[in-house]
Amino acid sequence: MKLEGDRVTLGVTGGIAAYKAAELVRLMVKADLRVRIIMTPNATRFVAPLTFQTLSLSQVRVDTFEPVSPDRVEHVALAQETDLLVVAPATANILAKMARGIADDLLSTFYLAYGGVTLVAPAMNTQMYLHPATQENLEILRKRGVVVLDPQEGELACGDYGPGRFPDPPYILERVVDLLYEKDLHGKTFLVTAGPTREYLDAVRFISNPSSGRMGFALAQEARRRGAKVYLVSGPTHLTPPWGVEYVPVTSAQEMFQRVLDLYSGADVVIKAAAVADFRPVPLVEDGAKFKKEGRRRLVVELEANPDILATLGEEKGHQLLVGFAAESRDLLENAQAKLARKNLDMIVANEITAGFASDTNRVVIVRRDGSIRHLPLMSKEAVAEVIIDEVAALLQAGKAR
Ligand code: CTP
Repeated sequence: MKLEGDRVTLGVTGGIAAYKAAELVRLMVKADLRVRIIMTPNATRFVAPLTFQTLSLSQVRVDTFEPVSPDRVEHVALAQETDLLVVAPATANILAKMARGIADDLLSTFYLAYGGVTLVAPAMNTQMYLHPATQENLEILRKRGVVVLDPQEGELACGDYGPGRFPDPPYILERVVDLLYEKDLHGKTFLVTAGPTREYLDAVRFISNPSSGRMGFALAQEARRRGAKVYLVSGPTHLTPPWGVEYVPVTSAQEMFQRVLDLYSGADVVIKAAAVADFRPVPLVEDGAKFKKEGRRRLVVELEANPDILATLGEEKGHQLLVGFAAESRDLLENAQAKLARKNLDMIVANEITAGFASDTNRVVIVRRDGSIRHLPLMSKEAVAEVIIDEVAALLQAGKAR
């Protein structure tokens, strides 16, 4: 990730959700963030500082008057070393102190000394959350530019049902990443396709392929993190759409074709990572019912060609930058270069079918229209997405898309 070295100070306050903050720390460290932790004294009654120390590999601060080092004024020094403050979980008490400028423990003192980008994830009993005092404090913080996450609705530890639950740590991480990423694609609109398509024979049976959708989802997420407006048109997958993208679920290739055409004129960049079925069955029954086998020993299914979505986009290309994928079982480069030319693309990302299909990793070759070729090693699909979006950003920068 592009976050290596970004410095986050995580404030953990005294609510039952404090234990969920441990998972958040783990995810932050995995994302290459440098995490420092301040716990309020009450938070240490829920989770031992050692838990956070072990996960963050740094000393947890609790006491304002117990300096980590004698030559540092801790809250001031730490403030200068922080790119983002995250308070998660944030109790009603810390929100009130932050809103009104009360500094009576290390975290609230730090908040005043810091004054930089801040995100809070309130988590508490529903009545406490909905109380006008808490809502007013949140409003003050929002007006001050603090990013306030909505708590989830659901059953709470106290037995109540309503808003107040700690948001899922992966979601909080995504909001953190969003605040730290450079927005070099701001103002650009991306249209990304992902996943397989399903081509139904009757009401319940279909032809498809094992595409997981992960490559396309990773591309959509990366473009969005970098500030682009992103439409993600995807066939059926098990993935949760990345935060902040416009998700357009589709089923068949024809449906994908239609949605993509609708969005094409407004897009600056189109990346077609979907594994589109080239053929669809002529329906076995006319009225969308379930086909009856009625003692047959053999069944012939006739297939008819689906539209080639990318080729159509290539024919109708205006200002858009077009990126295709090529899944090949042999002659990778030759086939990819031929597809790039045939579909009028600016770039094609080629992989052996054995390397990328239904897997978390991929080994790709990026071929540009100008003939340049870049071989990448086996990488996670998220890492591949970063490189592809870098390449796209470089083409946009070079004025490829007018
Ligand atoms: N594609 C598309 N519509 C189709 C088939 C493919 O938009 N009906 C797009 C894919 O999303 C991908 C690119 O075209 O970006 C190449 O897909 P691929 O399956 O590798 O190649 P095909 O063009 O289908 O050719 P072949 O199956 O013969 O290799």
